[in-house]
Amino acid sequence: MDVIPTIAAFRQARTRYPTLGLVPTMGFLHEGHLSLVRRAKQECGAAAVSIFVNPTQFGPREDFSTYPRDMERDLAQLRSLGTDLVFTPDVNEVYPPGHATGVDVGVVTEPLEGAVRPGHFRGVATVVCKLFNITQPTRAYFGQKDAQQTVVIRKMVRDLDMPLEVVICPTVREADGLAMSSRNTYLAPAERQAAAVLYRALRAAEKRFAAGERNAEALRDVLRTTIAGEPVAAAPDYVSVADRDTLRELQTVTDGGALLSLAVRFGKTRLIDNIVVGG
Ligand code: PAF
Repeated sequence: MDVIPTIAAFRQARTRYPTLGLVPTMGFLHEGHLSLVRRAKQECGAAAVSIFVNPTQFGPREDFSTYPRDMERDLAQLRSLGTDLVFTPDVNEVYPPGHATGVDVGVVTEPLEGAVRPGHFRGVATVVCKLFNITQPTRAYFGQKDAQQTVVIRKMVRDLDMPLEVVICPTVREADGLAMSSRNTYLAPAERQAAAVLYRALRAAEKRFAAGERNAEALRDVLRTTIAGEPVAAAPDYVSVADRDTLRELQTVTDGGALLSLAVRFGKTRLIDNIVVGG
């Protein structure tokens, strides 16, 4: 496994692989990331992982400086999976002085996370575009856990004719249903226990959908009511029943199905989760 901090050296190493699967990450890897690496390796023959905590996707009051980092543990895990290349640039390598260009993917970046975290998706799209240009992957792998991010990246790739396939993989969950996330490590024990309500709420809404409910507001109500039943959970930043591609809120769930998503704080930690119904 080659661990490469510079763009020039990565480009050189890249020439050894006819096909390459890329898993972009911000490190502090968990089973969710590792499942993406396994799939990349299996489908592409060679797997590259980028580890870069991208400052431009964090707001001024967000957790950039405290975001969990453990490079040694990450590299050991990646080595054990047979990862071929790991790209570990520092901030100056990605954003040298004078860097100014950004990628704005438009309306799909505006609702949900975009409404609560202005500028977040410009930061994500810009760094992912740069990572694609640097690593030239055949396929790039992302988790469904960050549902809006997957919509934004798929749209960017389509709109800008980027020559790669985007593969979205299922959310990996803990035994109680909590979606794996590097930020789960911030949770105090009582918050960690309470956080299982996110998936319980999604499953309750899914059950109502399966029983025939197609009114989107009724499904949002199930999400809100379930979250309200957990005292450690704050009122959600949003609960959403939206079109899976445009992310516009629905009145009625039709044959295309819907993305059910929500964002809730547990103490200082903000968690997101989602599920797709129908379609
Ligand atoms: O999902 C993440 O970890 C990040 O948003 C990504 C895609 C690596 C871009 O920094």
